[in-house]
Amino acid sequence: MTPAERLNHPAASPPLVDVRGVVMDYPGVRALDRVSFDLARGEIHALMGENGAGKSTLVKILAGRQRPTAGTIRLGGTEIRPASTRHAEAHGVSTVFQEIDLVPTLSVADNICLGREPTRLGLVRRPRLRARAAAALRRLGIAIDLDRTVEELPTAIQQLVAISRALDCDARVLVLDEPTSSLDASETGTLFEALRRLREQGLGIVFVTHFIEQVYAIADRITVLRNGARVGCWTTAALSREALVSAMTGRRLEAVHRGPAAAPEREPIGAPAAHAPPALAARDLGRRRSIHPVSLHVSCGEALGLAGLLGSGRTELARLLFGADAPDTGRVEVEGRPLPVGSVRAAIAAGVAMTPEDRKSQGLLLDFSVRENIVLALQSRRGPLHPLPRAEQDRLAAHYIEALAIAAPGPDTPVGQLSGGNQQKVLLARWLAVQPVVLILDEPTRGIDVGARAEIERLILDLRARGMAIVLISSELDEIVRLCDRALVLRDRTAAGALAGEALDESAVLAMVAAAPASASIANRTVDEDAG
Ligand SMILES: Nc1ncnc2c1ncn2[C@@H]1O[C@H](COP(=O)(O)OP(=O)(O)O)[C@@H](O)[C@H]1O
Ligand SMILES: [Mg+2]
Repeated sequence: MTPAERLNHPAASPPLVDVRGVVMDYPGVRALDRVSFDLARGEIHALMGENGAGKSTLVKILAGRQRPTAGTIRLGGTEIRPASTRHAEAHGVSTVFQEIDLVPTLSVADNICLGREPTRLGLVRRPRLRARAAAALRRLGIAIDLDRTVEELPTAIQQLVAISRALDCDARVLVLDEPTSSLDASETGTLFEALRRLREQGLGIVFVTHFIEQVYAIADRITVLRNGARVGCWTTAALSREALVSAMTGRRLEAVHRGPAAAPEREPIGAPAAHAPPALAARDLGRRRSIHPVSLHVSCGEALGLAGLLGSGRTELARLLFGADAPDTGRVEVEGRPLPVGSVRAAIAAGVAMTPEDRKSQGLLLDFSVRENIVLALQSRRGPLHPLPRAEQDRLAAHYIEALAIAAPGPDTPVGQLSGGNQQKVLLARWLAVQPVVLILDEPTRGIDVGARAEIERLILDLRARGMAIVLISSELDEIVRLCDRALVLRDRTAAGALAGEALDESAVLAMVAAAPASASIANRTVDEDAG
């Protein structure tokens, strides 16, 4: 430290890690914009933000995987410029990335020491390697057979092996990017035990997550990022859940004087029409590590919103409803008839349609024409032996280009040449062509311009008015409020409650997202609760 710097920290020693003014530019995207962040010894510091906020980018910069466009990182007061993960580790900064990179076919001990094997005359010194691996595991307080191959182990234990690997190099700083995203509640508890031990040993831990309750269970301080910028840093005890949600979403929660948020409904929301089964119903539909059991139903001519933060489990739930993933618990019924689990084909045959969140990678064939994209779902329902006659294809394409006002030179234009809004309309047309009973829309207006958005909203209202049952996922709360009769609010991959009619407004949804759950914390729940 220079004398001038020392003057700026007269009493306190410098933070363990001090990130100042970091900027990260990718082509066309500023992923981080002058972000500052500091970490103390013996602290668990949560880095929070919705998907895309810039958390992983900051992690990669700390870990030496990315060089920042601007800004500095100091470790114990001295500037470091980590140029690789190896280099960062040499400084004592160890990272477990969002995608764990262990070698599944190697043993626990080999993975912990991978790339840092103790050798002598070019030969690996096995006893020493095992001793080092054992020491790393001891720091976490876990006992795992050193000789088991990693692929035999449950995900949570693999996660702990990855952390042990990070600890093997005299780490003073441990950075964990979304370590709990594939863990269930009891596994998360195990991980938290280990983290608390490490905190007692004086490690500084950066814990990246978007799960609200986990942060209150473990973190000393919270830094929130939004759209690549730092919103603020607070001690956990001083930050209410409402304030945290406001910081993450950028929406002000009005002072909530509505009484306590409604308890999660055990029964399906609202009363189904007496005379007919609902168009779509799910009871206790859940999937381990993905979403806690949820019940819901939606009738013909009704729109149900799935609201919550990015990452709260909305898409996971939609995929279970559509059969794209198989549930561990519960089932889905369409017009009163149970669907075979985990079969998109059966869901489509029964009249369920879904437009995915990422229309490019999961939906549209960009090199194919508007016509080919529109007839795709209908054709796939008919099966390969019953090709749709060309005249019928032309008729459908012309009909939907007209009905949805798709701005394309013609039916033979490749979809890749259309604007985002028009691509979205093509995707909608594809599903409307099969005349579904239920239409699930995952972020249908994301990334499209205001005009096209208004048109798509009108279309959704029109479909609802004509008797389609709609399930709408949207991050735009005003959209949920405008288009939906009811909304199911998800929070940390659990149904937090439901809102209908007059009670459905933006501040009520946000209040529910921010409400403390009835149980103490997600980390304290048992496996049984988790499973059902
Ligand atoms: N390698 C990359 N190239 C271009 N853009 C990227 C890259 N990595 C991340 N981004 C963009 O930077 C932003 C922040 O992403 P990320 O740090 O992964 O967010 P988070 O981890 O908070 O979900 C996003 O807009 C993302 O699309
Ligand atoms: Mg990330």
